[in-house]
Amino acid sequence: MNGQGIHACKASEVAPGQQKIVRINNMPIGIFEIDGDYHAMLNICPHRGGQLCEGPQCGTGIDAGDFGIEYGRRNELVRCAWHGWEFDIRTGEALADPKMKAKTFDVSIDGDDLYVHM
Ligand code: FES
Repeated sequence: MNGQGIHACKASEVAPGQQKIVRINNMPIGIFEIDGDYHAMLNICPHRGGQLCEGPQCGTGIDAGDFGIEYGRRNELVRCAWHGWEFDIRTGEALADPKMKAKTFDVSIDGDDLYVHM
């Protein structure tokens, strides 16, 4: 885990599918919950600088075989509030172009307190 953790918010303030935007070191950071784990992402989109983390936390259409598509990866992605690009919350990779990455940070938890490591 990188660097010293900086207090971000309470875990109880981050419900599944309802990210919280905080400011740490004067940077806007989105805090997300996925299956009981917490993740942090810079709220600046690598595409055109939009407010990435203010879009919906969501899943996406995945290959279901036989030319079918089904909804999957529920709550693992955030869809940018500006142009709708989808980013993997855990890795920051854009689904459309994995070379395009949003900045992510490690998160640790102590009791109900979340810390972002920068
Ligand atoms: S600014 Fe995020 S998709 Fe364009």
